[in-house]
Amino acid sequence: MRPIENIVILTGAGISAESGLATFRGPDGLWEGHRVEDICTPEALARDPVLVQTFYDARRAALASVEPNAAHRALARLDAGWKGELLIVTQNVDDLHERAGAQRMLHMHGELKSALCRRCGGRSEWMDTLIDGPACPACGAPGGLRPDIVFFGEMPYQMERIEAALEDADLFVSIGTSGAVYPAAGFVQTARHYGARTLELNLDPSAGSHFFDKTRIGPASRLVVQWVDSLLGG
Ligand code: APR
Repeated sequence: MRPIENIVILTGAGISAESGLATFRGPDGLWEGHRVEDICTPEALARDPVLVQTFYDARRAALASVEPNAAHRALARLDAGWKGELLIVTQNVDDLHERAGAQRMLHMHGELKSALCRRCGGRSEWMDTLIDGPACPACGAPGGLRPDIVFFGEMPYQMERIEAALEDADLFVSIGTSGAVYPAAGFVQTARHYGARTLELNLDPSAGSHFFDKTRIGPASRLVVQWVDSLLGG
């Protein structure tokens, strides 16, 4: 079996659960009480901008009261210490990976702390609310900003970079994701196809658990720390 040099890590809402951010599909999940298509689609934003902007304004505001947990910190430690290639692909729109210090990472589903202008296509760092229709810092147009979030039906960000990393990966690790949403749910199969070993760390077996060589069940704060320690020899 080839040595592990290149690692791709996929994270989902489960890695931020112990920081106090609700997952999407759990019993107290964010989509409970909301239908996904009422919130997280371009059509929903056009039909009911107040509902959608209020929902994401609340998610953005909630970031101020949460902190990265041991799992985010362990991945940042791995990023800093791993000599080979490494890419953390997060589906999360929170900023806890970067606040923990991770650098080799990307947000495939967008970020709460970014606003996207529907007029000029510009992206601006955004900490405030969007409900009042502020002007775009890039083009000055009022009322055109939306959350820089990849809605259902839209293309996730940086797919070419992700695919290239998956092709080169020796190890693919999925952390805290239910495997319900594609294309992320299919990354394990792509990585396997190109010869990577595959590992799942999750509180419950995901929808695609059977695709992984190994699945470890438990909280991310424990499993991710153990896994990173084993890789770094700590
Ligand atoms: N440690 C590890 N895993 C956990 C923990 C924890 N402490 N708590 C929950 N989990 C697991 C759950 O068992 C579940 O499998 O995290 C997963 C969370 O699943 P979802 O709520 O479906 O979140 P996610 O997979 O990130 O959703 C994918 O769907 O709604 C869209 O765009 C949104 O990026 C999101 C995408």
